Amino acid sequence: MSNLVYEAVNWNRPTSELAQIFWDQQWKQIWFPEEIAVSKDVKQWKEFEHQDTYKKVFGGLTLLDTIQTNIGMNEIARFTPDLQEKAVLTVFGSFEAIHAKSYSYIFTTLCTNSEIEDIFEWVKKNEFLQYKATKIAEVYSAIEENNPESLWKAMFASVMLESFLFYSGFFYPLYLGGQGQLRNSAEIISLILRDESIHGVAVGFFAQNIFKTFPQEKQEQLKLWGYEFLLDLYQNEMKYTEDLYAETGLSPEVKAYIRYNANKALMNLGLETMFPDEEINPIVMNGIANTGSTYDFFSQKGATYAVAKVAPITDETFKF
Ligand SMILES: [Fe+2]
Ligand SMILES: [Fe+2]
Repeated sequence: MSNLVYEAVNWNRPTSELAQIFWDQQWKQIWFPEEIAVSKDVKQWKEFEHQDTYKKVFGGLTLLDTIQTNIGMNEIARFTPDLQEKAVLTVFGSFEAIHAKSYSYIFTTLCTNSEIEDIFEWVKKNEFLQYKATKIAEVYSAIEENNPESLWKAMFASVMLESFLFYSGFFYPLYLGGQGQLRNSAEIISLILRDESIHGVAVGFFAQNIFKTFPQEKQEQLKLWGYEFLLDLYQNEMKYTEDLYAETGLSPEVKAYIRYNANKALMNLGLETMFPDEEINPIVMNGIANTGSTYDFFSQKGATYAVAKVAPITDETFKF
């Protein structure tokens, strides 16, 4: 018999400031891919010019959501000491599994079996995709018991994945959907994005609470680690984007969107942004702005470009 005492999760009083809010919000937005009529995209898909790019975008996203299900949320939940936060992170993990599965639903609807097999083979072979998966998974797998620094790093990596690295992929369906192309597949992406927004804010918030407990010297050291980690992933992301979007001519716009989201990820973690504000394609921006309230966000298209500013985390951020 060990002396380990098992504690029961007690939701009768808050042990974590926002756990209940994150819990409620996540369940409120439960959804299943089969609710979206992706088959309505089939006609457009048959004539769609850049099928190869589109399929690879979804292949890459599938890998990230698979890692977030199997390693990310599991490991972070396992080592998070607060039992309410642990429960919230476990729920987030279930949604990651829905996300990862939803891409397969799109593939099944649009592609042939051999095409699908080719995509999953490409995922294994694409060096940039494998690089980012490896970098993130390494930090997830390095969490140690009673080592809050290692947990903070894993949460940092998680926010990088969910608020920053997904967006090279999200760009394309949002961009097309906003122009009436393959709208139903884009709608699935908007639902995933809506979940990722909560995850980025919640994990960023939990990370900030851990960060506050560190002495200043440690904080400076960790910040340096974080910015270096981000820059490394950023450089890789630029190459991934060039490779992926080569035939579409969209790389410069995707890259701007990536920088915007890198800033957002830093904001979620309570850290200074690092990229200057720049113009973001308004069709894509509208995709984000309206995801919280309605499924049909594409009807409100912006006509002009505007410089997108990342908003700092305020009380408003928690009104989903
Ligand atoms: Fe996800
Ligand atoms: Fe997520």
